[in-house]
Amino acid sequence: MSKKLVAKPGEVEFAKGMEGVIARESTKSYVDGENGKLYYHGIPIEELAEHSTYEETFFLLLYDRLPTEPELAFFKERMVQYRDLPDDVYEFIARAARRFNSHPMAVLRTAVSMLALFDESAEEDSLPAHEREAIKITSKLATIVAAIGRARKGLEPVRPRSDLSHAANFLYMLFGEAPDPYYARVMDVILILHADHGCNASTFATIVVKSTLTDMHSSVVAGIGSLKGPLHGGANERVMKMLQEIGEPERAEAWVLRALERKQKIMGFGHRVYKTYDPRARILHDYAVEVTKRAGTEKYLKIAEAIEKVMVERLGQKGIFPNVDLYSGVVMASMGIDTALFTPIFAVARVAGWTAHALEQRIDNRLFRPRFVYVGPELEHWVPLEERKEPEQEPTPLKPLKKEL
Ligand code: ACO
Repeated sequence: MSKKLVAKPGEVEFAKGMEGVIARESTKSYVDGENGKLYYHGIPIEELAEHSTYEETFFLLLYDRLPTEPELAFFKERMVQYRDLPDDVYEFIARAARRFNSHPMAVLRTAVSMLALFDESAEEDSLPAHEREAIKITSKLATIVAAIGRARKGLEPVRPRSDLSHAANFLYMLFGEAPDPYYARVMDVILILHADHGCNASTFATIVVKSTLTDMHSSVVAGIGSLKGPLHGGANERVMKMLQEIGEPERAEAWVLRALERKQKIMGFGHRVYKTYDPRARILHDYAVEVTKRAGTEKYLKIAEAIEKVMVERLGQKGIFPNVDLYSGVVMASMGIDTALFTPIFAVARVAGWTAHALEQRIDNRLFRPRFVYVGPELEHWVPLEERKEPEQEPTPLKPLKKEL
């Protein structure tokens, strides 16, 4: 296919944000945006949320089939075996939280990078080694996030237990006591719902990095960096801030209308692929009803529902509906989880998808190397320093720093 790659701005059509561009073939998950459906390897998300566990879902994403009973038992054992962290990583987390009060996603990103330094097989380049690293990193991410949550409160980390599920152990490490089985199940469902989602920005980042045949830690670090952004995983945290700012359900409508007038995006709404209701938002809404009743936090659910009503009335015809982030924050906050941990918990779940896709990429690899349409000047000449003048207007929004005289 020949395509003009030097052009005037706007002359060559391309898909901004790569909308609609197919990055590769995948057997992992399918987002049916028109009908508001999500499938992991063909299984509807509603069935997995009702019957599966995070460990089983992770197995499904990695190996493209459900495990048999002994396979699942062994897979869980392997995940348990990798739960603990090197002492240096626990120490780093405590220091980062204490000294710099850093963004928890920045601490997570660094901690995952550090893991590689204490893992003698991190650089081993074979499929079994990559598969082992995928399970190790996925298992350890929950421990890192729980330790970050505790360190932010000045608390010592709680080492993992081997007799609890991935979700229950996460809550145990976060709160220091074994969770109520209902809340453990809610956490399991949150992890299942966030485990994969087609070619989203962070998964794409992960596979682009993996396509250079680099190690699994580097690939996951790219995913974490991408998920941190407010247009992706960072939205759930902002939803909660919005609900707190609105304060009362009766104030929601006026608040949203004012925000829309100011052309503000409302967090927890809209999606590149779903042009209807995100099925994960429906499931989480139903959990939010029960969880907020137990916690006495129904007010936040009511505010979110009031926002949803105005948004769907105003922007539904434009294909803007609630996404997963609208109700996940309400559920997690009602379980006593700090807002700052919402995005890291999203990573605890999504690392299953990142690593599954990274392995899929590794098995059938081709380096990602797209092109830009070059719209800069076609030919300019180097000008000697003494002949150069400052432009009246900068060609980009960036202003070079000048030393004050
Ligand atoms: N509130 C108000 N208007 C919106 C919203 C929103 N949340 N989302 C999209 N729109 C409007 C845009 O203003 C734009 O309107 P216009 O055509 O009149 O200019 C139109 O819908 C298309 O929006 P884009 O931003 O171009 O759509 P895109 O596909 O690039 O963005 C995205 C998708 C980033 C998710 C966007 O909907 C958004 O910013 N939502 C809020 C953040 C959010 O909730 N992110 C979580 C996404 S889900 C996830 O990552 C887990």
